[in-house]
Amino acid sequence: MSKKKLIAGNWKMNGSIAANDALVRAVIAGMAGADCTVAVCVPAPYLAQLQILRHCCALLLGAQDVSQHEQGAYTGEVSAAMLKEFGVRFCIVGHSERRQHHGEADAVVADKARLVLAHGITPIVCVGETLAERQAGRTGEVVKRQLAAVIHTNGHCISEIAVAYEPVWAIGTGQTATPEQAQQVHALLRAQLQAASGHADRVNILYGGSMNAATAASLLVQPDIDGGLIGGASLKAQDFLQIIGAAQTARA
Ligand code: PGA
Repeated sequence: MSKKKLIAGNWKMNGSIAANDALVRAVIAGMAGADCTVAVCVPAPYLAQLQILRHCCALLLGAQDVSQHEQGAYTGEVSAAMLKEFGVRFCIVGHSERRQHHGEADAVVADKARLVLAHGITPIVCVGETLAERQAGRTGEVVKRQLAAVIHTNGHCISEIAVAYEPVWAIGTGQTATPEQAQQVHALLRAQLQAASGHADRVNILYGGSMNAATAASLLVQPDIDGGLIGGASLKAQDFLQIIGAAQTARA
């Protein structure tokens, strides 16, 4: 039996107490009976507001980042233990916006994955090439290097991570990768995970980058695309629900 698809919303730095409440209520109401795993990765201050999700088995709570340190004098940081206390089940690590704007190196991303795994949280490890790297024919080399760092540090439990392939040129641009482009990279990542763990079939490999109601279905039927990491479209209940619907159909 195939594993359940995972659809995770990445709200990025968006939301308000009122907007979050309306969005989450609409998503829960609309997804009744959905046979896939659905999560929302929210800004850290809203984890407290969204504690209702701890008791709602349908929609799971996620975070967007975590400190690479356990605890201590790291002003502004949020630890994996804190996320755990708030019922966080998934944590995005190594998003390209953090690699780009906050200088996160592969080794830092690997440490973040290690810390959340140690607290029983599933890291959603993001990898992806820039447009220049794709045009230079370096896509495979770049994503494999990014994933290799996480495998190196977390080899013993690598089948417990989720991976998101997010081509940087597709994020927030409306330019979704074609199903063939995405599938090609997902197959590479699957083979790399298989060589490392022997259990690559257990790992959800998500596609992210302008996935929306129109593009979701053709991506989610690809053999190695096990879900989506959804930015802009996760902020509108109807769009997010249509993607969840596409994940259901793809599995059936
Ligand atoms: P997007 O973002 O769906 O708005 O392109 C995806 C992401 O950055 O995770």
